[in-house]
Amino acid sequence: MQRRKFLGLTSITALSLIIGTNKTQAAEALNQALPIPELITPTDINGIKHFDLDIQVAQHEFYAGIMTETYSISSTYLGPTLLLTNGDKVSLNYTNMLPEETTMHGHGMHVPGEMDGTAHQPIAVGSTWSAKYTVNQRACMNWYHPHYMHKTAPHVYQGLAGCIIIEDDESRALDVPQRYGIDDIPLVLQDRFFSADKTSLVYNPSRRQINMGYIGDTFIANGAIEPTFEAEAKELRIRLLNGSNSTMYNLGFTNGKVFKQIATDNAFLESPVSMSKIVLSPGERAEIVVDLTNDMGSALVLKEFNYNKTFLTVNVSKEATDITTTPNHLTTLDAIETPTVQRVFRLGMNRGEFTINGKSMDMMRIDERLKLNEVEEWEIINDMGMNHNFHIHATHFRVISRNGSAAQVRANEKGYKDVVHLAGNERVKFIVKMTDVTADDANPYMFHCHFLEHEDNGMMGQFTVEGNTNTSFFPSIYNLLF
Ligand code: C2O
Ligand code: CU
Ligand code: CU
Repeated sequence: MQRRKFLGLTSITALSLIIGTNKTQAAEALNQALPIPELITPTDINGIKHFDLDIQVAQHEFYAGIMTETYSISSTYLGPTLLLTNGDKVSLNYTNMLPEETTMHGHGMHVPGEMDGTAHQPIAVGSTWSAKYTVNQRACMNWYHPHYMHKTAPHVYQGLAGCIIIEDDESRALDVPQRYGIDDIPLVLQDRFFSADKTSLVYNPSRRQINMGYIGDTFIANGAIEPTFEAEAKELRIRLLNGSNSTMYNLGFTNGKVFKQIATDNAFLESPVSMSKIVLSPGERAEIVVDLTNDMGSALVLKEFNYNKTFLTVNVSKEATDITTTPNHLTTLDAIETPTVQRVFRLGMNRGEFTINGKSMDMMRIDERLKLNEVEEWEIINDMGMNHNFHIHATHFRVISRNGSAAQVRANEKGYKDVVHLAGNERVKFIVKMTDVTADDANPYMFHCHFLEHEDNGMMGQFTVEGNTNTSFFPSIYNLLF
């Protein structure tokens, strides 16, 4: 009986492989315009902006006429863009309609520990969890994604991620492109493996891929394979997010066109930085402005140069209906302060598990205890010959040295960062301070490598922040009211 069942399954598998092979030859990437994630309108209830988001199983058309099974947030792949204004009181209500538990973390958001959406705030199947907080940080692009213990990588891989754009008075007054979907576009960059028949995304990393990167053969932008964007002949702002699991992206236009980076992970840069290539490790964001004023009629190809893949073609096909002139002074960042506390974090491996300071992630262990408003210097040491990066929750940091040298800090990492890349055997020092939010032992924050296979396999730790926030955050009574 057992054996017959086994044989039956085998022949079905063999059959689907044959069909799959035929379909592979036929499968054509959908020839499509760049999907722009919907900007959803929140519902205002007593001055609180409610965003209702469904985490669900969905079907998405990557290939013409073929539906691929995905996970998504109120969409068919990825999720809508949440537009927040500094000072907003918000409630992000996530309903889990998946067949499994997950979580939803606000990456880059300065929120209290219990609103952070880590593995300590699971969303049970069929239930709703709300991240309620007052937005209290500068204009930037953050993002939301699952953070479930050992399952962040597969959950993100299936399509769970979305952008959070924060604006403030200063950003709105700047003469930079800000017409969403017209001259200001988010671009979530990822790479994926598909099943032979293209009906599913395949997440099945080998030991080697866990270590060296699970790098798909199909590169996608906002969930589309090599889409095109029709741009106005003027400045175009692209908010880049490396939303991949573990792929380093080296991006640029094939014609070598120079562009300016105007923002890092957590804020505008003080001045734009000109470049023709930009490197982003997983989780990093960069906002760039490319001036298309004199490019009417041409097509610019945004490429990834490490793997020689095309992400997007920008057709400059429309007359400008509004002009922007990105200024040379964008903002003034807070001065870098002198630290009074020092910590060292060594990224390594032990018995096949990734470690930080020799320890693999343990949800029951608090690794570091921080105090509000204390200025700290953290040194991150990559003891391995492979790429890693380092992310810290609920704050930003300022990189002050790379490999012991201040001169090696790149011009475009002199802003507010929350992820920093460390190539093999590199070291980085940054200054960090928790300014406005706290976390206790029950709901600690995390620091980790954002290569998701490394994070899921132990390269993560937890920290608390003690102190009196004394700011406008909701009193705990808030939780009873809403
Ligand atoms: Cu983007 Cu702890 O994560
Ligand atoms: Cu995060
Ligand atoms: Cu890593």
